[in-house]
Amino acid sequence: MKHASCLIDKNHTIADIPDELFGSFIEHLGRAVYTGVYEPKHPTADARGFRRDVIELVKDLGVPLVRYPGGNFVSGYNWTDGIGPVKSRPKRLDLAWHSIETNEFGIDEFADWAHEANTEIMAAVNLGTGTPQNAGYMVEYCNHPNGTHWSDLRVQNGHNDPHNIKTWCLGNEMDGHWQICQLSSTDYAKKAREAAKIMKWVDPSIKLVACGSSSSGMPSFPDWDRVVLEYLYDHIDFLSLHSYYEKETTTEDFLASFTNMDYLIRTVGGVIDFVKAKTRSKKDVMLSFDEWNIWYQKKQSEHPWECAPSILEENYSLLDSLVMGGLLCTLLNNSDRVKMASLAQLVNVIAPITTKPGGGILKQSTYFPFQQVSRYGRGKALKTLLSSPIIETKSWGEAPLLQMAATMDEESESITLFVLNTDMNDSIDLSLDMRSFKNLKLTEHLIMHGDDLNATNTFENPEAVVPYSLSTDMHKNEGGVFSLILPSLSWNTFRFSMSEKN
Ligand code: AHR
Repeated sequence: MKHASCLIDKNHTIADIPDELFGSFIEHLGRAVYTGVYEPKHPTADARGFRRDVIELVKDLGVPLVRYPGGNFVSGYNWTDGIGPVKSRPKRLDLAWHSIETNEFGIDEFADWAHEANTEIMAAVNLGTGTPQNAGYMVEYCNHPNGTHWSDLRVQNGHNDPHNIKTWCLGNEMDGHWQICQLSSTDYAKKAREAAKIMKWVDPSIKLVACGSSSSGMPSFPDWDRVVLEYLYDHIDFLSLHSYYEKETTTEDFLASFTNMDYLIRTVGGVIDFVKAKTRSKKDVMLSFDEWNIWYQKKQSEHPWECAPSILEENYSLLDSLVMGGLLCTLLNNSDRVKMASLAQLVNVIAPITTKPGGGILKQSTYFPFQQVSRYGRGKALKTLLSSPIIETKSWGEAPLLQMAATMDEESESITLFVLNTDMNDSIDLSLDMRSFKNLKLTEHLIMHGDDLNATNTFENPEAVVPYSLSTDMHKNEGGVFSLILPSLSWNTFRFSMSEKN
C-alpha cells in the first residue's frame, strides 16, 4: 500500500463551476446525427424524428450545451442548405468526412432537438469556404426576432421565436491542413475579426469563441494562439482548446494524460495573460475546451460515398473510463479559466452513447465518469493540496499517481471528491484532512475498477463496465481526517454530507 495526503479547506476555492463545463458536441459526422439523434423510423422516434431513447440519456448525462454542426464539417457547410422544406434541400458531398449530406437535419431541427434535450446550442459558423457576411446572416436567422429577410425566413420555416443562440464559434481548427480552406494565423485572425464584428453588430448579446491551436502538437502552437489573440482580443470572449488522447506508449503514460491537459490549459492561459498585458486590456478572455476526449481512430478508414457511414465509432474500455476521470478532474481544477468544455462527441462518433439503427442504445464505459462529475461536480471547485507519489512518464515527464478534484455544493450541503488512482499495482491510502468542514459524513463511495482494463460494454453485455458502490465502513474518519483506501487502477467518487452549515 502506498500513501498520499491531501488538505482541503472550505475557504480555499478555485471558482464557481460553470454549468457549461459539461458540454458536448454533435457534428454532421458518421452516425452522430442520422441514426444518432435523428432517426424518424426508429420505434422511440417522436413526431419530429428525434430518438427519445437518446434524449433520455443526454438528459441523464446532464449536458447543458452542445456544439453544432462541426467540427471539420462546418468548414465546407452552407447552413442555408439545411433550412426550409426538407424535400427541396440539396444533397451534397461532405468533403470533410467523405460522406453524403442529405441536409434533412439543419439548424432548425437542432434547435428543436436541443429544446427537447434540455440543452443550449453552441453554434459554429463556417470560416473555411464561408464568408463573414454569411456568418452574420446565420446569426440574423437564428437570433433576430423578425421583420428582416433572414429572420422572416425562420418564421416562415415554422419558428416564430428566435433560437437565441448565445455562444458562437468563429470556425473550427483553422490551423489544420485537414481543414477545408485552412488559413494562416494572420489570415484567420483577420477573417474571424471581421466575422466577429458583423455577428456582434447583428446581436451584441452573443459570446464568441475564436479558434486556438487545434492541438499542442501543432508546429504553430502556441504562436497561432498569440497571433489570433492579438488581432481578436477585444472582439472575443473565449479562445478554444482541443485535445484528444489515446494509448500511444504505455498504460502509465495514457493514465497520466491529465497532466498534458493541465499543461495545455496553463500554457494557453499564459498566452492570454501575455496578450492581455501587451494590449493593456482590462477584460479577460476565458478558455473554451470545446473538443476533448479519448480517440483512437484518427485516420479515416476507406469508405464509399454514403450517408451517415459508421465511422469513428469507438468502443471504450475500463482503462478509457479511468483516463476520462482524470481529464474531468483537470477541467474542474481549472474552472477559474476554463469556462466551457465540450466532450467530443455525444452520440456514436467518439461518444459515450452508442445506438443501433432501428435498435437499442448503449452506455459506453466513459459515460459513467462523465455522468458522475456532471451530476455531483457542481457548486464550487475546491483547492486540493495534494501530496502524492510521483511516477516518471515517457510522454509527459513527472506525473502524480493520484489525480483528484473536490467540489462543494452549498445548496445540497454536500462535498464530492473525485479520485483516480493510476498506480498499476498498489492501493493508495489517502489521508484527507477536511477538518475545516464540521460534522462531515462520508455517505457514498462509488468506484470503477476491475480485473480487465480492456473490458468494454457491448449490446450483448451492456454492464461489463459500470460503477458500483463500496461500503463506506472501509474508510476511517478521525475527527475530520479521513483515511480513504483507493484500490489500484480505480476511479472513485466519494460523497460527503455537511450535516450543519459550515
Ligand atoms: O471531433 C472530431 C473532429 O476532431 C472534429 O471534426 C475536428 O474539429 C477535430 O479534428
